[in-house]
Amino acid sequence: MVTIIEKIKDSKRMDLVLEKAARILADGNLVAFPTETVYGLGANAFDESAAKKIYEAKGRPSDNPLIVHIASLKMLDEVALEVNNSAKQIMDAFWPGPVTLIFKKTDKIPYSVTGGLDTVAVRFPQNEIATMLIKKCKFPLAAPSANLSGRPSPTKASHVAFDLSGKIPLILDGGTCRLGLESTIVDTTHKMPVILRPGTVTKEAIEEVLEQTVIDGYEEQIEVSTPKAPGTKYRHYSPKAKITIIKGSEEEVVSKINHLLIKDSVLGIKSGVLATDETIDLYNTNLAISVGRRKDPEEIAKNLFKTLRKFDRLGAEVVYSECFEQMGLGAAIMNRLTKAADYRIVQI
Ligand code: TXA
Ligand code: MG
Repeated sequence: MVTIIEKIKDSKRMDLVLEKAARILADGNLVAFPTETVYGLGANAFDESAAKKIYEAKGRPSDNPLIVHIASLKMLDEVALEVNNSAKQIMDAFWPGPVTLIFKKTDKIPYSVTGGLDTVAVRFPQNEIATMLIKKCKFPLAAPSANLSGRPSPTKASHVAFDLSGKIPLILDGGTCRLGLESTIVDTTHKMPVILRPGTVTKEAIEEVLEQTVIDGYEEQIEVSTPKAPGTKYRHYSPKAKITIIKGSEEEVVSKINHLLIKDSVLGIKSGVLATDETIDLYNTNLAISVGRRKDPEEIAKNLFKTLRKFDRLGAEVVYSECFEQMGLGAAIMNRLTKAADYRIVQI
């Protein structure tokens, strides 16, 4: 299959391209599209066999459910039952935007979309290309991140092309994703809302809106009575390089990593460093990449997946990464980084 990449520039061209994309989707095929978080790989959420094509193209385990993307609250009625008060408050505050909510599903949503669950994950994205595409389709789009299963999520069309060229007919290129980390997932089907995946909408921001404490359901050590987002149990976000996070004061981390770099070079191992603007010049390697300014977590979130993919392109076998604060947006950054590192953290 030939994969066409359509760059979306002016609005006249946008309409034509979205028409074409909507036709492909209505025929039961797949289209990758930008959102404000990461690129999604879309299929008609009401079409059981179209959804199955997503799992094939990504190499995704079939028990890992997809997020259903809507472009109006009317569409929510077609996919979700029982929207409770907490859900309404979160929707009011953050939709359209980077928050996904879990609801009981309607019969219109096939089990191939929900990985066999009776619940469905729903998101109302903010990105204009995404919402205009869904409106043109007149059906919601089931869409996971548009990467091969296990790889870092794509934040540019070229990342999607690298992973899925030849496997899907069309990629809509809307430039770099504004946020760069996947949506915050909140399960509102229980008495207490539970965050199943942290994102750019932070736990603190949700608690402020709900005026109540929200449970972290994603920390490995915390047992909650609700199932975690099934996808979170799989290997994730991983570049080919083996990543280790080094935790300590700046001085200790730099000195430890420089020591490890010397050891690796003696052994002939190509190792790199995931650094920050503040520290990049302190490492004795030409394979140090800055993920952004430590003072600016938004910038780090936006660059994280792109940086992980860059280490692959440069052929790094091992990557030592600095560690980030777990507060606020840092919780989402560390969640993705820790998974990419397969939980290897060295505390100095
Ligand atoms: O920002 C995003 O959320 C992006 C863009 C494309 O919208 N999508 C995304 O999808 O990150 P994906 O498939 O990579 O991650 C979806 C996560 C998985 O961890 C999955 O297990 C969880 O959502 N999920 C989906 N349906 C669920 C459900 N009914 N209950 C619990 N978790 C669910
Ligand atoms: Mg994903």
